[in-house]
Amino acid sequence: MSFPILTADEAADLIQDGQSIGFSGFTAAGSAKAVPFALAQKARREHAVGRPFKVGVLTGASTGKSLDGALAEAEAISFRAPYMANPTLRKQINSGQVKFVDMHLSTVPQNARYGYLGRIHWAVVEACDITAGGGIVLSTSVGASNTYMRLADKIIIELNTKHPVSLLGMHDIFEPQDPPARTEISIFSPSDRVGSPICIVDPKKIACVVNTYLEDEAGGFDEPTAVTDQIGQNVADFLAAEMKVGRIPSRFLPLQSGVGNIANAVLAALGQSTEIPAFEMYTEVLQDSVIPLLENGRCTFASTCALTLSPKAMQRLTRNIDYFKKRIILRPQEISNHPEIVRRLGIVSMNTAIEVDLGGNVNSTHVMGKTMMNGIGGSGDFTQNAYLSIFSCPSTAKNGKISAIVPLASHMDHSEHSVHIVVTEQGVADLRGKDPLERARLIIDNCAHPDYKQQLRDYLNLVAPGSHEPLSLSAGPAMHRQFIRNGDMRNIDWAEYR
Ligand code: COA
Repeated sequence: MSFPILTADEAADLIQDGQSIGFSGFTAAGSAKAVPFALAQKARREHAVGRPFKVGVLTGASTGKSLDGALAEAEAISFRAPYMANPTLRKQINSGQVKFVDMHLSTVPQNARYGYLGRIHWAVVEACDITAGGGIVLSTSVGASNTYMRLADKIIIELNTKHPVSLLGMHDIFEPQDPPARTEISIFSPSDRVGSPICIVDPKKIACVVNTYLEDEAGGFDEPTAVTDQIGQNVADFLAAEMKVGRIPSRFLPLQSGVGNIANAVLAALGQSTEIPAFEMYTEVLQDSVIPLLENGRCTFASTCALTLSPKAMQRLTRNIDYFKKRIILRPQEISNHPEIVRRLGIVSMNTAIEVDLGGNVNSTHVMGKTMMNGIGGSGDFTQNAYLSIFSCPSTAKNGKISAIVPLASHMDHSEHSVHIVVTEQGVADLRGKDPLERARLIIDNCAHPDYKQQLRDYLNLVAPGSHEPLSLSAGPAMHRQFIRNGDMRNIDWAEYR
């Protein structure tokens, strides 16, 4: 089957102002690159002659600099969902210039199918190959590409020969029926396959193919610090102890791990632990730290939505592709993060918090309650349905001027009802089976930084006992108010609130 071959500029010219595009990309892995970059140049040309040009951007999750970066810098995004991590776009979202809808990632494909996200004019999807029969072999992520291609009016394929065609066989593409026709998803272990290695699309919808040769734009990680190492160690020690007392089965449970420096440190610590047996992963993102664990057998299998690898780690995987194909499955985000499967497999979820309050509620998204950081991502998909849900973070941010442990979270993404364990470099608070006052005491004693322990205890003395939830609506936000006034959360005079 053959399709028209266009340049990225010619393909971008097909897209009109005001249209909505479903791009491939779940992190920088597998992001469309050439067409969004060309679209940004087109937007600049249009703006220069006084014509409006903005598009709605849907993706799997965050993307690379050629997509979110280029389009944001060209002021070409009107609407963005469901997740992002680009600094320019973040500024535009926080200034109200770009409409941003923060969504649980597992729900994005079904919300698109249900019509909640409006009409999708284009799917722009990176592939590593197109089969003779017109099947699309996706590249380093699946995200929501299968659904976007099915729903979009027209499709543009970026055929990226930088990715090896031998990725064929790593994907497992499956899209559930919509209610009331939906049935179970037959995944009973991370390595179970339920779908097809390729995306079957209507060939009549393929407007063109754009040939590219471009590396994924995954950023690296910060060097581990004493704090991130200690958090990793605390999580590993905690899980080993859980196994010893029999609350985690001796053959262990599949792990989900979030994104970023802390998640990387946690996985490194689990990999090195002599007490934790070899484990499987059922997760949404595979970062560099998992590649050596798959090689040395500490991780025996990984189901994921994306290979978020540095070029070096990607080369390592490609050199040994047959080995890794037996140990990695790439799934659509609807399946990699599906609540039914997370609950059934008994996932241990490990995500990162911005702040945690004394009730055990977690804010993962909004600094000081109003400035969007990245989005909730898949953290809620996993946390709400996990066998054991863990949130970790450093006990302070911004050189100690901010405590991550606060009386009342300034925004809430994960409620006390789904957060089991809180971990900082100070220690571990196990909130399971604890009432609100017990939870508050544990979080202060085990997780708060010494600079903030007394201040938090003073808050607790102010509000408890006398109610089920130790809460004061006037004093709850006092530490945030103190930071806004003085640039530091310390030294509150609680007398003001008595
Ligand atoms: N107040 C203000 N800023 C804070 C803060 C707080 N309480 N806690 C963290 N920050 C800032 C840090 O200072 C840092 O800022 P910088 O980039 O200017 O240095 C930034 O937030 C990132 O924090 P860091 O400690 O480096 O952690 P991270 O890179 O692991 O990111 C999250 C932490 C919470 C932002 C990130 O994990 C996230 O977006 N999570 C939500 C989505 C998610 O969980 N996805 C995975 C699901 S599978």
